[in-house]
Amino acid sequence: MSTTTQERTIRPARNILGTLRLPGDKSISHRYALLGAFAEGTSRFSNFSTGADCASTLACMQALGAKVRKLDDGRVEIDGVGGRVTPANHPLDCGNSGSTMRMISGLLAPQQGNFTLIGDASLSRRPMERIRKPLAEMGAHLTLTEGHAPVMIEGCPLHAIDYATPVPSAQVKTCVLLAGLQTEGTTIVREALRTRDHSELALRAFGATLTRSIDSITITGPQTLQAIEATVPGDISSAAFFLCAAALFPNSGLILDGIGLNPTRAALLDVLTTLGARIAVLQLQEAHSELVGTVQITGDDDGLRSTEISGALAAQLIDELPVLAAIGSYTSGGIRIRDAKELRVKESDRIALVARNLRAMGAEVEEFEDGLDVPGGQQLHGPVIDSGGDHRIAMAFSVAALRAEGETLIQGAESAAISFPEFFDLLDLVAER
Ligand code: S3P
Repeated sequence: MSTTTQERTIRPARNILGTLRLPGDKSISHRYALLGAFAEGTSRFSNFSTGADCASTLACMQALGAKVRKLDDGRVEIDGVGGRVTPANHPLDCGNSGSTMRMISGLLAPQQGNFTLIGDASLSRRPMERIRKPLAEMGAHLTLTEGHAPVMIEGCPLHAIDYATPVPSAQVKTCVLLAGLQTEGTTIVREALRTRDHSELALRAFGATLTRSIDSITITGPQTLQAIEATVPGDISSAAFFLCAAALFPNSGLILDGIGLNPTRAALLDVLTTLGARIAVLQLQEAHSELVGTVQITGDDDGLRSTEISGALAAQLIDELPVLAAIGSYTSGGIRIRDAKELRVKESDRIALVARNLRAMGAEVEEFEDGLDVPGGQQLHGPVIDSGGDHRIAMAFSVAALRAEGETLIQGAESAAISFPEFFDLLDLVAER
């Protein structure tokens, strides 16, 4: 990825109107790329994520022996390695992507050979002990430097475990499941708070057998995977920026087609409804067990009310919390967020950066170790926003800027390309000025 920083000026908008179809979901694209590259046969994916993070996963899997091609019609085609990777003679670069590093570690720990996973400055600060611990319990040889990348793996056969994840993390869950897939015996992953279940659905789509209860997933290995063809649903976490933008304007009208509506990801629709937005979901369909549909949203004449997000809801909305906090000042009663300590160890410390940038816009905001209080009824002005190189912060404050007085300058705007390179162009398309 380029290291130059770009600035973007966001002008206030009068309304949000239009119809969009968004690029494929980042979480699902990572999983389809990993499993397609590991499976037997040739997989093809339409609407694959255009973000740099998923390109990191594809590049790592290519370096491990999978063949990746971009077809003329935009599809991604992958010849899988049939369950046995070829160690690369260089470190695997995961870029900015925690999903890539944590999930590939589980895939590689039971393989033969030595592997080194590296990342950019942000990823090199993020906690990796959470994957080292369960993999070490399985007998893996995995070393970190003070809990961080580089992740060095000496592949070896593992043994099955019964593991309860101490932090709600779909990446950790997936890491253990991918190791369990290749390991003799029955591996169980238990989670106190249910996280996104794309890995469970994708593993089944690629032919694996696993069983699920309310709070656990059980997989018996070793198992092989078979290639699939799939269309990746539009990314609801990218849609979140447009849904929140539309919710800010009375009589807005936005239609988002082909959006992923997996129930473990779609809590934002309930939160926006509680806040007062009018939302309809149409043309619901299922593809490889992932729900997909059209979402229509209209902002209410009375504006947005108030809400509190805590407990299980905070874990489910973890990627949407920055944009919800960023629009909190425009609600009448404010937005309170708790039980979201994980935000501090994302691509940036998202609690600190949201608070700092809201204050830069003139807002009052209270910061807690595990959340934020953003009082309502505050008019903001357009300042300089420091995205901290974090894609979701850059996009969240571009949305807040639509209702601010004056122009807002977003520093580090290029970071949007980590998950959503088309973001600014699409925002210009639907923002009426
Ligand atoms: C993701 C899981 C979440 C999320 C991230 C993507 C995934 O991270 O924040 O953007 O695809 O599994 P954690 O597993 O660390 O909660």
